Amino acid sequence: MSDQPSPSYALFTPRSLRPLSLIGFVLIAITAAFAWTGGWFNSSHLDADRMIDTFEEVNGLHPGFRRNHAKGVCLSGWFDSNGAGQRLSSAQVFTPGRVPVFGRFALAGGMPAMPDGPEAVRSMALNFTLPDGEVWRTGMNDIPVFPLKDARAFYDELLATRPAAGGKPDPARVSAFLAAHPESAKAIALIKDVEFSSGFANATYNGLNAFRFIDAAGHATPVRWSMRAVDAFEREPEQPPKDKNYLFDELATRLARGPAQWQLMLAIGQPGDPTNDATLAWPADREAIDAGTLTVEALASEAAGNCRDINFDPLVLPAGIEPSDDPLLSARSGVYSESFTRRAGEKKTPSAVQIGKGG
Ligand code: HEM
Repeated sequence: MSDQPSPSYALFTPRSLRPLSLIGFVLIAITAAFAWTGGWFNSSHLDADRMIDTFEEVNGLHPGFRRNHAKGVCLSGWFDSNGAGQRLSSAQVFTPGRVPVFGRFALAGGMPAMPDGPEAVRSMALNFTLPDGEVWRTGMNDIPVFPLKDARAFYDELLATRPAAGGKPDPARVSAFLAAHPESAKAIALIKDVEFSSGFANATYNGLNAFRFIDAAGHATPVRWSMRAVDAFEREPEQPPKDKNYLFDELATRLARGPAQWQLMLAIGQPGDPTNDATLAWPADREAIDAGTLTVEALASEAAGNCRDINFDPLVLPAGIEPSDDPLLSARSGVYSESFTRRAGEKKTPSAVQIGKGG
């Protein structure tokens, strides 16, 4: 199993849409036979266990590591609420003041030693620890929409983009997937239109799923949130550095100069804005409230007891924030739990990103 970026939605970012080599149909036939035997054509058989089995089949088994977003590093800092979010939600995190935060920067994909590169989606996962003991967990990506509308689409995409001969996905399978999932084709076109930033620190991370914010009077508002980088935007270089860890190394160098900051933006959905489909963008002119500033002060290598051993389940929400009708939310919760349960019981090996050890 190579360390190349794994076949996941990461493959659909702009520079990864390289021409795919032509391959025969033998592998498709084998996959189809396997799928039939396992009853996979029946959507009722797709559960979290099957989904994680498929991540493992496609990416190989990497004991102790997350089955997706496997390569990462822990972060710590704090969030300063300015109080503006209280207009939408009674969640304590929006009361003016500071709460501690820890989290994780990562690359999408199931290979814990994959080389850094522009084709990988970057992510930020956060845990806000609130004064009354509640926590808020969120995982965000640097893409504008999610290319897959539900668990079935993710599963189909995993199989369609798994490496075939020459280590590249079979173009016929990719085309078949896109034909069967026109919403993914549209989302990928949106993703292709976006300019990505040069690194972790100047990237904006989007929660992508909609949530329901409940204010003190019990009124509900649909919201999608983002962490908007304060560091000036710089485009991805045409020729990215060759170093395997260049993105993480640059992030460590950036934080050595001082903390990096992001503004928590709460985009307010209007009637008719989709809350159950993360492949669809909301109109760009939706009002967005700046609810406060995230400050990331330090990084740490994944280790016992830190972000390594946390499940950034998107349904871990404080009172005042509720799930929407987006089917991805419960799918994520179930799949992350299965990934977490498996990795928690496995022997650990050091992560590829080592902070303060010359790595
Ligand atoms: C059905 C859809 C999805 C599946 C099957 C899936 C799968 C996974 C898995 C298996 C993990 C590792 C969990 C762990 O071991 O802790 C993960 C992590 C992650 N996912 Fe998803 N995911 C899905 C949708 C999404 C969406 C819509 C987002 C949008 C922001 C997202 C963002 C993330 C992030 C940021 C992480 C890394 C969290 C961390 O650093 O621990 N995922 N995903």
